[in-house]
Amino acid sequence: MIDFKEQVAQVLAKEIDALEQAEIKNLIEIPPKSEMGDYSFPCFRLAKTYKKAPVKIADDIVAAIDKELFEKVENLNGYINFFLDKKAVVKAVAEEVEEKKDRFGGSDIGKGKKVIVEYSSPNIAKPFHIGHIRSTVIGNAIYKIYDFLGYDTVRINHLGDYGTQFGKMIVAYRKWGNEEEVRKAPIQTLLGLYVKFHEEAEEHPELEDEARDTFKKLEDGCEEEYRLWEWFREESLKEFSRVYDMLGITFDSYAGESFYSDKMDRITDMMEEKGLLQKSEGAEIVDLSEYGMSPALIRKKDGSTLYITRDIAAAVYRKEHYNFDKNIYVVAAQQNLHFQQWFKIIELMGFNWADQCVHIPFGLVSLDDGTMSTRKGKVVFLEDVLNRAVEKTREVMEEKNVGNENIDEVSKQVGIGAVVFQELSNNRIKDYTFSWDKVLNFDGETGPYVQYTHARACSVLRKATVGVTTDVDYSYITTETAYELAKLILRFPQVVIDAANKYEPSVVTRHIIDVAQAFNKFYHDEHIITEDLEEQKAKLLLVDTARQTIANGLYLLGMEAPERM
Ligand code: ARG
Repeated sequence: MIDFKEQVAQVLAKEIDALEQAEIKNLIEIPPKSEMGDYSFPCFRLAKTYKKAPVKIADDIVAAIDKELFEKVENLNGYINFFLDKKAVVKAVAEEVEEKKDRFGGSDIGKGKKVIVEYSSPNIAKPFHIGHIRSTVIGNAIYKIYDFLGYDTVRINHLGDYGTQFGKMIVAYRKWGNEEEVRKAPIQTLLGLYVKFHEEAEEHPELEDEARDTFKKLEDGCEEEYRLWEWFREESLKEFSRVYDMLGITFDSYAGESFYSDKMDRITDMMEEKGLLQKSEGAEIVDLSEYGMSPALIRKKDGSTLYITRDIAAAVYRKEHYNFDKNIYVVAAQQNLHFQQWFKIIELMGFNWADQCVHIPFGLVSLDDGTMSTRKGKVVFLEDVLNRAVEKTREVMEEKNVGNENIDEVSKQVGIGAVVFQELSNNRIKDYTFSWDKVLNFDGETGPYVQYTHARACSVLRKATVGVTTDVDYSYITTETAYELAKLILRFPQVVIDAANKYEPSVVTRHIIDVAQAFNKFYHDEHIITEDLEEQKAKLLLVDTARQTIANGLYLLGMEAPERM
């Protein structure tokens, strides 16, 4: 597509010898109001060089500049505002969208570069609860965005399937559990046992030692412990898979913490060699005080390893196995210190790729009725939330009496989409409260609203008496409303790049809300299915480009775009 910003920079560069064209392009802004044009160049930086007032500089440049490509170029308080030729812009946008279709907004800037995105990573034998939605959905969107930009992506689910808690679970199961109950309701039962363990351990602290010994046995490969652990893992994965299916999420690898259990000695040997390990009360630690961090416990007294040791082993394995250019961890901000510690450790181990590892933190989600804690057993299962969203959506649709024969499928797409969309609406680092009222509102800035707008565009296309073609008279779609919509579509490819650079799916979310709103304004302000078929053809083209852009945006967020709602 024509790079309009580049064109502006080129024209300016001919008149401004004090700056390179690339620098000029960097300084160009998008004005806050459309009355101020499409692009704006601030002259303030030039005042020193030219020893003139910015307003005077702007005047001189405007007088000298080649204005052929533009509708208008004018000086407003030291800003040079460029008004593009609307027809040229709308035509370029429409041709680009119709050519690229579901690839519009994508590119191959990532070609040949490997990016690992690790996300979701729930803990085995623990409920897959509402708190897990964040990493799962944000991670999935980040993966899709990178994939769309041509990166070679690998999706990893680093399951929490190892550690002392399995010692606890096994001890509790042996003391108070029975097989039948676990088979019937695995997670619920295992969670109950886990909770009971903690209650009992408060009065009988020796249970903790028993649990540690049991985990050690598991690490050493004792058959009976291993068999139980494997069974718990299998049952948990069944539950997780149900949720992933509902969300349409898949992974390339489920190599979780246990996968690294036999790769640990090599790692601790390497640390030893570099002189990083220190004895402390029988355990081994890496002292990080020089870097303002608490020490990292690498190996316990009994020789068993820890969460952090497994993360280090996993990173080394991933580098050797995948040779990544970037290794992304979508994990809660509560684990900031953990990641800072082990990123520092791999750097100290001499791995020059340490800076290719990135932690992408996010804030907490809470429910209207307070946060949840696994230990107290008060949890809200993600599966229940998704099912409830689907049911409620169905109710709303029945109330509205939309008479959709696919109501089962559509209420799934919209209900689940609503939860996903809310999740991706705010900056990820912000804490937020999950609210049913907000999630399912069809009129707010919500998933249902955007999906509904998409379905509305599809419906217009169905009703039209002409087909979609780019061979149209573009002057029909240069009204203020139409042009605003076209400009938002024009920006979509850059929005995707910005979202990738910031690891921030909400950049996409917000933009497709803008596109949806601009489309609805166009839909309300203008008569689209006109008798004049030339006019109808032109307007329909704009409808189709908006539809495609919204569909592509929803795809990147991991949502469906139903054609009828
Ligand atoms: N299983 C962990 C949890 O639920 C998250 C794992 C994050 N990933 C990692 N490589 N440490 O808290």
